Amino acid sequence: MWRPQPPAQRGRGDLMTGPAECQVELAELVVETIPHADWVLFAKNGTDATTACVTIARAGTQRRKVLVAKGSYHGAAPWCTPSLAGVTAEDRAHILRFDYNDVASLERAADEAGRDLAAVLVTAFKHDVKRHQEAPTLAFAQAVRRICDAADAALILDDVRAGFRLHIGGSWEPYGVRPDLCAWSKAIANGHPLAAVTGADRFRDGRATGLCHRLLLVLGCADGGSDLPPSRSCARPARSRRWKPWAAGYATGSRRRHGCTMCDCGRPDQSRCR
Ligand SMILES: Cc1ncc(COP(=O)(O)O)c(C=O)c1O
Repeated sequence: MWRPQPPAQRGRGDLMTGPAECQVELAELVVETIPHADWVLFAKNGTDATTACVTIARAGTQRRKVLVAKGSYHGAAPWCTPSLAGVTAEDRAHILRFDYNDVASLERAADEAGRDLAAVLVTAFKHDVKRHQEAPTLAFAQAVRRICDAADAALILDDVRAGFRLHIGGSWEPYGVRPDLCAWSKAIANGHPLAAVTGADRFRDGRATGLCHRLLLVLGCADGGSDLPPSRSCARPARSRRWKPWAAGYATGSRRRHGCTMCDCGRPDQSRCR
């Protein structure tokens, strides 16, 4: 089994003025591995990644409205936090809501945004707190792509939770639906604090300010960002043909969705029979 790299990077340096070689190597690997990715931006947490996606989409389209599913969690910034304390109406002024997996409600929200539609932001599947989880229907995933294409807006996939857990190339890869921008975090660096935004060429120029390289940009850091999390990224072993963590995840998820198959308890949720 793959083990994180020994702390060699610590000896070479961390939090330096610019990103270390391991960040550039990881950027190249990410761009090679993820089909929609022409460039990558690294950050430290999911909120920064989703916020950067929205900012980049607005910069790239020169529009303001962003469609977000009701109940979806995209982070703790004023534009998206579920807690309204300290949030002003202006922070949310251009966020419009739709129901996840409901194509008609998505179309209504897109109509409301009209020519000001910058992006549709969706999680890889519906994983709202205290609600049943729901995979996207193919019709829904395709409708998101169709609406973004028709409006020349960005499809942003929030893969912060699911990325690298369902598919190495992005969670909607099995649906044949590719995002223009994608936010990654939880599973990309073996638990170390690393997030990423990947994007298509069209949005290259809309990237936020930071340390800008050919493929790579570092966000939210007063320096080149910590080099330790990238040196521990699981991107490299995840590309190995022998190690497919998302396949095991899919199998466990299917068992839980379709009921306990581990014994004959007849319970709908496998976790309860343990
Ligand atoms: C789908 C999704 N997007 C964004 C975030 C925000 O990530 P962070 O807490 O690292 O800022 C989370 C966190 O749980 C998440 O699940």
